[in-house]
Amino acid sequence: MQEKLYSAYKKGLEKVCFLKQSIDGFPHITRGGKWLTNQNGHWTGGFWTGLIWLSYLDDREAHTAEEATEWAMRLKCRINDNTTHDQGFIFGPSCVFGYRITGNGDFLPLIHAGAQNMIDQYVPQVGLVQAWAEEGYDGISIVDTIMNLPILWISGELDDDSTKKEMCLQIARNIQKYAVRRDYSSYHVVRWDNDFRIYGDTHQGYSAESCWSRGQAWALYGFANMYRYTGEREFLDTAEKMAQYYWDNLNDDLMPAWDFTFRNDPSMPIDASAASIAASGFSIISSLYRALGENEKAELFGDRADAMLLKETELCLYTNMSEYGIIEHAVVDYPRKSGVDQSAMYGDYYYMEAIYRRMNKDDPNSIKLLY
Ligand code: GLY
Repeated sequence: MQEKLYSAYKKGLEKVCFLKQSIDGFPHITRGGKWLTNQNGHWTGGFWTGLIWLSYLDDREAHTAEEATEWAMRLKCRINDNTTHDQGFIFGPSCVFGYRITGNGDFLPLIHAGAQNMIDQYVPQVGLVQAWAEEGYDGISIVDTIMNLPILWISGELDDDSTKKEMCLQIARNIQKYAVRRDYSSYHVVRWDNDFRIYGDTHQGYSAESCWSRGQAWALYGFANMYRYTGEREFLDTAEKMAQYYWDNLNDDLMPAWDFTFRNDPSMPIDASAASIAASGFSIISSLYRALGENEKAELFGDRADAMLLKETELCLYTNMSEYGIIEHAVVDYPRKSGVDQSAMYGDYYYMEAIYRRMNKDDPNSIKLLY
């Protein structure tokens, strides 16, 4: 099993190497198998840079670290972009990961800028971060924000600012309060009206009350990571229960339908990017329980991560160099029919990150480097 995943990881690294030579902008998602790229990193530039850091941790070649640093530094163009909540995605796997690997202080201003951009979008009346401005609605927050919050915590740790850490905690608690349902499924979207009345909704899922599988994957990973940073046990309990919901709603072959409404419906596509994110999230949960000495749970979630990764490798690993990414069969936005059955940089990055976590499960220092 370990050998199969290791061999898939090596193939993934080969693809990163190939792609590096054939693009000049950040690869975002594929259309018809060809990468769409952009110069400012959109919300996925951190993942591409993170893949190059993973390459460096494998080959330990100085030039690979230089390349990763160059890609991360291109994200300087985003330091004043306070129009999106995606700050952790942008600056986490690029600059936090890079800082922890190299100790290079040039990454610090980017990390702090990401935190400041989050603070700028904080809406005190609801205690949430606005995800983006949306015409026709008063306010919108999304469950994915839980993945972005560590940038605020990390910045607070680095400059010893407890107000950032307190804000991070408050926002995480409010995401838990408003986006997580009683059965531990999730609302993708939390909106508020003019009077700051809050209600659940969706943006990329099937309906307001359905459960969008990638949102659930972001949430289970995000709450586990939030426990890792804050030590607040409730976040780990939430992550575990959300992971259980995710597991219980997988198709029989362990892949997620793009929305769990369509479990085992062969006419509906799977979302392999959700599978990648969830596998890495299950691996975090496993490591956290292992550190707590709760070995039964550590084994359970580790075994599930391995089982999901093996299935994803069998069904979605794409090794032809000239098209698609490492992982195919991702769905970007099914309701808008955007990127259905394509590759997405988050599907690629989290697949590789998940395998890295499993390969290094006995080496906490290697795992600690990750955002
Ligand atoms: N965070 C946006 C998405 O998952 O599509």
